[in-house]
Amino acid sequence: MTAQFMLSKKRLTDQAVDLSSIAPVIAVVKNDAYNHGLKDAFESFYAGGIRSFATTSLKEAVRLRSFNQEIMILLLDPSTDFETLKKYSITLTIPSLSFYHKHKEDLKGLTLQLVFKNKLNRLGFNGSSEMKAVLEESSLTINGLWTHFAFAYDGDSDRYTHEVNAWKHVLQELKDYLPSLPYIHAQNSASFYRDGLMPGHTHIRVGALLYGTRPIDQPHAHIHSRQAVRVDASVVEVTRVKAGDSAGYSAAFKATKDTCLAICSIGYGNGLLKERAHFPVAINGNLYPIRVLMMSHLLVEVDETVSIGDHVILYDDSLSFESFTRQGIGAFSEQMAAFNRDTFSYQVID
Ligand SMILES: Cc1ncc(COP(=O)(O)O)c(C=O)c1O
Repeated sequence: MTAQFMLSKKRLTDQAVDLSSIAPVIAVVKNDAYNHGLKDAFESFYAGGIRSFATTSLKEAVRLRSFNQEIMILLLDPSTDFETLKKYSITLTIPSLSFYHKHKEDLKGLTLQLVFKNKLNRLGFNGSSEMKAVLEESSLTINGLWTHFAFAYDGDSDRYTHEVNAWKHVLQELKDYLPSLPYIHAQNSASFYRDGLMPGHTHIRVGALLYGTRPIDQPHAHIHSRQAVRVDASVVEVTRVKAGDSAGYSAAFKATKDTCLAICSIGYGNGLLKERAHFPVAINGNLYPIRVLMMSHLLVEVDETVSIGDHVILYDDSLSFESFTRQGIGAFSEQMAAFNRDTFSYQVID
């Protein structure tokens, strides 16, 4: 009767195979693989041929190493736990020139990549001259350069073009170093969708698309998307309320006519976003409106055909993350990350 979170590892693998056939992929598996579960996602992507993984969390990086000794694991965020980084052969991103100066000695013996800050203004070097100063340091093992675009998902492409050009300028300035670097990467799902693999880049570095969700503003028919997650619940009770009656805390629903309410076993405690409750659920192939969102329950206005035990679908191929993003609920990652997977019964469906 509890809410169910269902994962298709096969779809993740198929998506990995498809993308890898177009460009080498660094799989972004941060936040428990966008909440798909790090181990299941890793196994699926590995089976699909991916050998490079990136996360922001050292704990996840160490876990990835426990799954496989050979893969490349890139830590996107800085860490000063140099012992652990060395022990588990985790590639560290140097986030700034000052970090480099401060930890120069500790960085020896690690594999490193440099990040260009660009317009995101999160982490990174300010420009090629700063990066050159580190690339010149022969005692360090540097195997890559990367950046992250701030505007790839924007409809307005001027700002995106501007940041891409800034990055291309950096690469041009560093051109003498590039042939010896096996990892030059910048493109998230949206950037890859716009431009394919950019010249001079060795990999794309994608999350959303790998999990089967396309950027909404740039639909490219030739790239498949297969949402790998389904979320459903059950009808635990059907209640009839008379016109004028209410249901839920503080009369959250006021019946204007005699109404049938299905009480469904999922709520915001499972991580269902408030905005999702503005859109219907599917029961027995029909769509019904959510009237009240509670911590562990939904009250859904239904008809006489709905009964106890029926499946209540919140997300599937028809009620897709992509379609809800288009309707303003939030990015795929926001919808996914909100789920408290421990509160669900979890099932790998294939
Ligand atoms: C540094 C970095 N690279 C790549 C990605 C992947 O982005 P997307 O899921 O849009 O492909 C992310 C996600 O936020 C990120 O933070």
